[in-house]
Amino acid sequence: MSEIFSIRGGTALKGEVRIGGAKNSVLKLMAASILVPAPVKIYNVPDLTDVEIMIEVIRQLGVKVDYDKQERSVSIDATEVTEVTAKYELVSKMRASFIVLGALVSRCREAVVALPGGCAIGERRVDFHIRGLEALGAKIKIENGYVHAKVPKLTGGDVYLDIPSVGATENIMLAAVLADGSTHIQNAAQEPEIVDLANFLNSVGADVTGAGTSEITINGVSPDKLHSIEYTTIPDRIEAGTFMSMIVGTRGKAIIRDIYPAHLTFYTNKLIRMGANIKLIEPTSLEVSCRNRLNSINFVTQPYPGFPTDLQSMAMALLVVSNGVGIITESLYENRFMQVPELRRMGADIHQDRNHAIIKGVKKLSGTTLLASDLRAGASLVVAGLMADGNSIVKNIYHIDRGYENFENKIRLLGGKIERLQEETPVEEIRNESYI
Ligand code: EPU
Repeated sequence: MSEIFSIRGGTALKGEVRIGGAKNSVLKLMAASILVPAPVKIYNVPDLTDVEIMIEVIRQLGVKVDYDKQERSVSIDATEVTEVTAKYELVSKMRASFIVLGALVSRCREAVVALPGGCAIGERRVDFHIRGLEALGAKIKIENGYVHAKVPKLTGGDVYLDIPSVGATENIMLAAVLADGSTHIQNAAQEPEIVDLANFLNSVGADVTGAGTSEITINGVSPDKLHSIEYTTIPDRIEAGTFMSMIVGTRGKAIIRDIYPAHLTFYTNKLIRMGANIKLIEPTSLEVSCRNRLNSINFVTQPYPGFPTDLQSMAMALLVVSNGVGIITESLYENRFMQVPELRRMGADIHQDRNHAIIKGVKKLSGTTLLASDLRAGASLVVAGLMADGNSIVKNIYHIDRGYENFENKIRLLGGKIERLQEETPVEEIRNESYI
C-alpha cells in the first residue's frame, strides 16, 4: 500500500535534530568491504531503503551481511565471494549498486554488473567508470545490458576524468586497491564521501593518498595486506542541509547535531547571504535560525566544494518565497527541476528554460496535493509544505525513504506537523484528525 505525507504548514521548527550517517558514503563503504577477505563492521548506518538494497546486492555475491538496526551497524564478512554477478533487478532499483563493479574486478578478476540506465533526474552515463577500468587493464564487453569485465590481474594506470564524477572516482579507487602498481586519478571528485572512502580503505590496509583533492593516487597492495576493521560513516551533509532549509524556511530556530559543519560551508554561506543566522556552537553542531523573510540569491550547482546539486531543490523551495528574483543554474544533471511544476501548483512563480530557473519570490505558498518524482525533489516538497499555508499531501514518498531516515519523526521532534498515512485515507479524515 502506498504511503503519503500529510503536512500542515506554518509552524516554526524549534528544538534540535540529530543527523544520521551519509547515504552516499555508507553505500560505497559497503561495496568496498567486498575487497576485504575478513570481517568489517560499519557504524552510523542510516536506516534507509537504499542501504537495504545494497545489502541484497552484496548478499547476492555470496558475502555474509548482518544488519543490526538497533546498533545502526552493518557487519560484512567477504572472506569468500562466491558470485560475480550483480543482477539488473537490483541495480535498476539503485544505481549506486554499480559501484560493486570496481571492487569485484579487483577482488575476483571478473565482474558481470547490470548497466543501471538513466533515471528521473538525468541520463547518468557510466562511460567514465568503464574507461577508468579499461585504463587499469580490464577487458570490458557490454552484452545484453550487462557490463562484463575480466582481467588476469589489474595493473595501475593513469585516468583522467572529463568531469569529476563521484561514482567513477569511487569505482576506479576500488578497482585500483589490489592492482599491481600505482593508479593516478586526475580531475577526481573531491566530495567528503570520497575522503571517507579513502579513509576506510586506508584503515583496512590499502594505500590511498590525495583524496579530497583533484588528484588521487592509489598504490596497489596485495590482498593479504587487507584486514578486519570497525569504521564509522561520516554524517550526511545533504540530510543536514535539508533540515537547515526547513528551519530557515519556517523562520524557526533549532540546533543541528552530529554533523561536520565544514562539509556544509558552501550551503551555509548561501543561507547566511539570504538572511539566515547560523552559528557554530560546538565542533559538530550548528544553531540555525531565521526571523525575517529571506532574500533571493543566484547560484550554480557544482561539484564539491561548490553548491551541492543534491540541495538545489531545497534552496529552490526557499527562493520561491524569498524577497526578489533568484536564478538557479543546474550544471550537473539534465533534468533536476522535477519539483518545479509541483512548486508552481503551490503558487510559486518560476520560469524554467532548460537548466536555468528564474524564481520570482511570492509572499506565500498554499498547500495542495503534490507528487514526489525523486528523492531530493520529494524532500523539497516537504520543505515547501512545511512553509505553506494549509495542508499539503506529498505522494510517492518511497522516493524520500531512500535517503532520509525517520524523516517525519525527526521533523515532528522539531514541532513540524507531518504524518505518514496510507494513501487510501480520505482527505477529509486527514484534515480532521491528523494534528489533534
Ligand atoms: N557522468 C557521465 N559519465 C559517467 C559518470 C558521470 O557523463 O561515467 C555525468 C552524470 O551523468 C552526471 C555527472 O556526470 O551528469 C555527475 O555524476 P556523478 O558521477 O558525479 O554522480 P553519481 O556518482 O552518479 C553521486 C550521488 C548523487 C549526487 C552526485 C553528484 C551517490 C549514490 N549518488 O552520484 O546523489 O547527486 O554524486 O554529487 O553517491 C542523491 O543523493 O540524491 C544523488 C543523486
